[in-house]
Amino acid sequence: MEKHFAVIGDPIGHSLSPVMHRAAFKAKGIEAEYQRFRVSPERLKEAVEGLVSLGFDGWNVTLPHKEKIIPFLHELTPEAEKAGAVNTVRVDHGKLTGHNTDGLGFVRSIEEDTSGLAAGKDSRSHGKYAVILGAGGAAKGIALALADRGLKLHILNRTAGKAEELAGLVRARGGEASWAELVPGAWLGQADLIVQTTSVGLKGEKFLFSLQGINPRALVVDIIFRPAETLFLKEAKSYGCRTLNGLGMLLHQGVLAWEYWLGEQAPVAEMWTALTKAVAAD
Ligand code: ATR
Repeated sequence: MEKHFAVIGDPIGHSLSPVMHRAAFKAKGIEAEYQRFRVSPERLKEAVEGLVSLGFDGWNVTLPHKEKIIPFLHELTPEAEKAGAVNTVRVDHGKLTGHNTDGLGFVRSIEEDTSGLAAGKDSRSHGKYAVILGAGGAAKGIALALADRGLKLHILNRTAGKAEELAGLVRARGGEASWAELVPGAWLGQADLIVQTTSVGLKGEKFLFSLQGINPRALVVDIIFRPAETLFLKEAKSYGCRTLNGLGMLLHQGVLAWEYWLGEQAPVAEMWTALTKAVAAD
């Protein structure tokens, strides 16, 4: 029987999830559809009921619904529970389970990098110093996943109170985290990993400050992938840092979601090809 999947969010027009998941179904010869639906926050409950009534087997959840969808689900996986957010829903005989693959998706994307920075709870990642710029929804998932891997975190945000809150959450879960306002400082030279999660750079604009003094051995990640190289990444590269954009994170959260739904290994290479082609065609 044909399976039905979707992604819901608002806005949703630019989502690359359909391209990636359709490529996976095609590669595996699975008869399935993947659609995207724009759902306004005030219609979320009806949209969830509608998806269930229409026989959907699961769907992805993106902004602004990742937290707001929780009351409409029956159960959360430990990952979703921990993140307090859901990016993947699975329907089993009418029961809705919320899952979160964002954090592990991020970790997998940096594991692919040669640094081995987050390669499991081993001596290489343990005690490494990661700086997270921003304290929004994306930063939260990433912070919790990195703390789980034994990295020490320093969280910086324009609204310092939100950095404080996120650092508190990480500590409450047994991690190590400090916080500060988003300004340059000694952290630039000390960080082993720097993750840019704010929306600065999405429109091609310059970053908030110069990265002068950055540790040239740091791995620098910007979760933005459109543009493929933000001015932030470009500058980090000019100082000799290894850099990574957010497309790998998008891939791996999708791979993990697909595997959660289908219960088999996802065709990662085909999904990656579909994604890079779609981005190049933008
Ligand atoms: P997401 O879920 O994608 O992380 P979000 O929750 O809206 O989105 O978070 C956006 C992040 O970008 C926040 O850390 C925000 O900082 P504030 O908490 O101070 O708002 C940050 N951000 C957005 N525009 C910014 C700007 N011009 N300068 C600095 N930080 C900015």
